[in-house]
Amino acid sequence: MVNVLAEQVSNLLEEALQQLGVGDVDPGELLEVPPRSEMGDYAFPCFQLARRLRKAPPAIAAELAGLLSTMESGMQKIEVVGPYVNFFVDPASASDRILRAILDNAPGYGAPQSPNGRRVVIDFSSPNIAKPFHVGHLRSTMIGNSLARLFEYHGYEVVRLNYLGDWGTQFGKLIVAYRRWGSAADLEKEPIKGLLALYVRFHQEAEQEPALDDEARAAFRALEEGSEEERRLWEWFRDLSLREFNKHYERLGVHFDTYAGESAYNEKVAQTVSELEMKGLLTQSEGALVVELEDLPPCLIRKKDGAALYATRDVSAAIDRYETYGFEHLFYVVGSPQQLHFKQVFSVLRLLGYEWVDRAEHIPFGQIRIGDEQLSTRRGNVVFLEELLDQAVARVRAIIEERNSELDAKDEVAEAVGVGAIVFNDLFHNRIKDISFDWESVLSFEGDTGPYVQYTHARAASLIRRSHDDLGEPDSSWIDASQLDEPETFQLVKRLAEYPDVLKRAQEEREPSEIARYAILVCHDFNSFYHAHRIFGTSEERSRLALVAAVKRLLADALRLLGVKAPEAM
Ligand code: ARG
Repeated sequence: MVNVLAEQVSNLLEEALQQLGVGDVDPGELLEVPPRSEMGDYAFPCFQLARRLRKAPPAIAAELAGLLSTMESGMQKIEVVGPYVNFFVDPASASDRILRAILDNAPGYGAPQSPNGRRVVIDFSSPNIAKPFHVGHLRSTMIGNSLARLFEYHGYEVVRLNYLGDWGTQFGKLIVAYRRWGSAADLEKEPIKGLLALYVRFHQEAEQEPALDDEARAAFRALEEGSEEERRLWEWFRDLSLREFNKHYERLGVHFDTYAGESAYNEKVAQTVSELEMKGLLTQSEGALVVELEDLPPCLIRKKDGAALYATRDVSAAIDRYETYGFEHLFYVVGSPQQLHFKQVFSVLRLLGYEWVDRAEHIPFGQIRIGDEQLSTRRGNVVFLEELLDQAVARVRAIIEERNSELDAKDEVAEAVGVGAIVFNDLFHNRIKDISFDWESVLSFEGDTGPYVQYTHARAASLIRRSHDDLGEPDSSWIDASQLDEPETFQLVKRLAEYPDVLKRAQEEREPSEIARYAILVCHDFNSFYHAHRIFGTSEERSRLALVAAVKRLLADALRLLGVKAPEAM
């Protein structure tokens, strides 16, 4: 599944290289896209062959071109420029191939590849119980969701795993705070806000009354030992939080196969500690147990008071995941501040002798900085996801009112576009970069934004609707490729041809931003085409509508892979 144009050129080259006696060279690996279109659509550099063939690259290029000229190439022109053979594809036959691939549902152009029997486990979102679901978790959620869809698209079986932060000493604090100041009714009404308030209050009061900390430790120990009342409270906090998280997930169109969080590993942790002990990896350090690591700070396994740590649970969880799923890849989509943590966890697993640790990858991402005072200062810089999304939807609702007040289902569209704008912005930037967030560059209908892509998709949809009324549904039989060779048109067609390569790159680099940026380019090219060429009432009408249908299809697919909805009108 590659770009059908590049494939055509590769196939030609393969045959020619065979005849030169270097049939083992894969031309697809070497093929380049020249910096300017006057230099052709593809260029094949001959430097690498020079040593094998003991000839200068320009001589090889000339020889190759000679061979190619004897073949039925289907190219418009093949040209030698120094060490390069440049290929000019024939616009008509290229358009024909590409649009047919898209409209006839070829794998990679909007249709997934067949299952390949491989499995990826993706640990993503993984918020902490009783704490707000904030914009950092949103990024993990949407990058993870997009990677999940992308791997499915490439034929993998994906296990979506939400490793809830549902264990740790903070639960002792919450239990104590709830007993002193909590009310069940308040918590039921606004669980996360209520729990957060209890947590904040605990810290304030503990400054005056340090004994509270001892009480909290005792409560957590009781919880660890399975005391019924503490257990019941903890479960209730967990349920309340999960209920709220699920509302977010539903709104974002994200689901999980399992919510096995940190608490699921309480018992396994003991096993991990004894395994480390048996393999002689544990060292005492000021009463705590650590694993000494080369080139990294030691990994803390058990605290002085006997409590296991985040890293210990992650080691146990990884082993369990391997036993349960036998994955080909295990991804952790977690912010870059946890880089050291994952290096340590992976090193410990390696010391334990688990070679599959090479299949585990931390997929880090940068922070989103939200300058919006209104959203962030009220609670000391925590931006609640829900408020951010509501705000985006309200702003989009106002824009729609201004631009297209006649629109049907305005609320539904505003929801799709507002949420989509936030998600698209999260995914548009290279994931490792920090993003500074401002409303204008998130919501503009004309910039590099989600709304711009959704709007372009909706425009294509409206053309197809009109076609439907006048002429019927465009399909591949409508393509007369000889009508699709004007520059703007062919530029757009060539852009569509890139889609499978873009998805491949996005998959290999674990980088949904490749898809987002590509979608923007499709929109630019579509809009240039649309401004240059009238559609209805021309003799090219049907061919152009087939192209519009192909654009609509790929944009909808790209948005789906990003986890963004594609409304039919807006
Ligand atoms: N709960 C953690 C946090 O919010 C993220 C957990 C990521 N996954 C993992 N296996 N450690 O920071």
